[in-house]
Amino acid sequence: MSRKFIIAGNWKMNMKQSETQSFLSALAELIPAEKKQNDFEVLVFPPFTSIEAAQKTIKDQALNFRVGAQNFSQFKSGAYTGEINAEMLTEINVQDVLVGHSERREILKEDDSIINAKLKAGLDSGFKVILCCGESQTIREQGTTDKWVCDQMQTAFAGLESTTDITKKVAIAYEPIWAIGTGKTCDSTEANRVISVIRKKIAEIFNAKIAEEMRILYGGSVNSANIEELMSKPDIDGALIGGASIKKDEFSSIIKKVLGLFAKAN
Ligand code: PGA
Repeated sequence: MSRKFIIAGNWKMNMKQSETQSFLSALAELIPAEKKQNDFEVLVFPPFTSIEAAQKTIKDQALNFRVGAQNFSQFKSGAYTGEINAEMLTEINVQDVLVGHSERREILKEDDSIINAKLKAGLDSGFKVILCCGESQTIREQGTTDKWVCDQMQTAFAGLESTTDITKKVAIAYEPIWAIGTGKTCDSTEANRVISVIRKKIAEIFNAKIAEEMRILYGGSVNSANIEELMSKPDIDGALIGGASIKKDEFSSIIKKVLGLFAKAN
């Protein structure tokens, strides 16, 4: 079966409202003919305060992009200073969220149980979730990458084993931490190998059909020079892109190159 690609831009703590508006307007100019592409999904994840500016500009420019949130609280409401809950995102028409990004795991100290709770809360709220995983340099050097990412899957999906239409709601992003923001992209063959290990683990947690349908993206120093090579690998179903997603020439070039891959395939 063919899995629909996802190209997602994680803007992290960048892009004020005015920058969001000018960035997306400029991007729309750079991809005029392909704006209404349907062969793959494009998402951007701005900071909370720029979400509505992104939604408005995307609509004004007739871009076929979705706008997601980089984070949300696993709690429903109450005394959680500084947090944003799922209902607040739903109220502003956000339907996509990131969960388990390594920066939240490492810097904001989100552990496996929080990630599991966020995944459940996201699904309960009807969100589509991109669930991130990936090993550190130390884990890689120890040779325990496969076990690490499989354990991350096991704990993230704990309690969700019987969910049937999970592939419509969850995509996974394999993002080796040592490759994030470093320019050290994971070799495409190795990225594909780890992703196939994750896919096997998904088959074990759920079943073979779910594993076959689950989109698994690669993230970590993806740019316009390596996107085609990465996307040509059979198990890689898209990319989660940080730095290159806030550079208009880079992000537009990535989108055009992925469009080109589809044009070649058809
Ligand atoms: P990068 O970030 O593309 O800048 O490496 C990826 C990510 O953190 O999702």
